[in-house]
Amino acid sequence: MTEKKDELSELAAQKLVEQIRKKPNSNLGLPTGRTPKRMYQHVVRLSQEMGLDWSKVHCFALDDYLETLEDYSFQKYLEQNLYQHIDLPGTNKHNPRFHDDYDRLIDKHGGLDLTVLGIGANGHIAFNEPGTPQASYTQCIWLDEISRNSLKDGFPDASEVPTKAVTMGISTILSSKSIIMLAFGEEKKEVLKRAFGNGVDPAIPASFLVLHNNVSILTD
Ligand code: GLP
Repeated sequence: MTEKKDELSELAAQKLVEQIRKKPNSNLGLPTGRTPKRMYQHVVRLSQEMGLDWSKVHCFALDDYLETLEDYSFQKYLEQNLYQHIDLPGTNKHNPRFHDDYDRLIDKHGGLDLTVLGIGANGHIAFNEPGTPQASYTQCIWLDEISRNSLKDGFPDASEVPTKAVTMGISTILSSKSIIMLAFGEEKKEVLKRAFGNGVDPAIPASFLVLHNNVSILTD
C-alpha cells in the first residue's frame, strides 16, 4: 500500500468515526472490495482508541452477491473487516439480501447519513451496472462480464463468480446525506475521468454523483 493510499484510507476512516461521534445513531452505507480494506483497519483502530460506541449505529451493506456460498458474501467480508471488531448489535447489521424492502428500512431509520463507495472498472457504484437509471432502488441485478472478471480473484475459479447480485439503487445512494468515494491506483484513473468529466452519463453510473451536493472523492 502506498503512503498516499494509506493517508486517504485513514482520512475516510476519520470522517466515518467523526460521523458516529457527532451522531451516535448514524446510518452508514458500507462498501466492500479491495479498496476499503485499509479504511476498515483504520476505523477499527480509531474506534478502539476513542472507545467509540457503535451500539446505536446502523450499518447498511451497499450490495451483496446472490446464489453463492456465505463464505464469499459481502456480509462475511463486513463481519471479518469491521463488525467482529466493534460493539455493533447484530440487529443493526443490515444487508439487502435479508430485506424485501431495503429502501423502506433505510427510510424507517431516518435515511443514510454517510455512504462510502468504491467504483467498479466499468464505472459502477455498488452493483449498479452501466445503463442503470437514476430512478433505481434496491434491486436484484445481473452482473456484467467486466464486473465478473474484476471479481474473479475472490473465487477458486472464474466460473464460480456469481452472475446475480442485489444492490442499493442509484436513488438509494443519492439519498445519503453525505458520500465518500475511494478510488486508488492507475486502473481507476481512466474510469474516474469518464465518470466526472462529462456530466451525467447512465453508461457510467458513478457519474450520477455529480448531482449530489456533498460528495468527497478520495483518490491518489
Ligand atoms: C464491487 C463492489 C463495489 C466496489 C467494486 C470495486 O463491484 N460491488 O462496491 O466498489 O467491486 O472493488 P475494488 O475496490 O476491489 O476495486
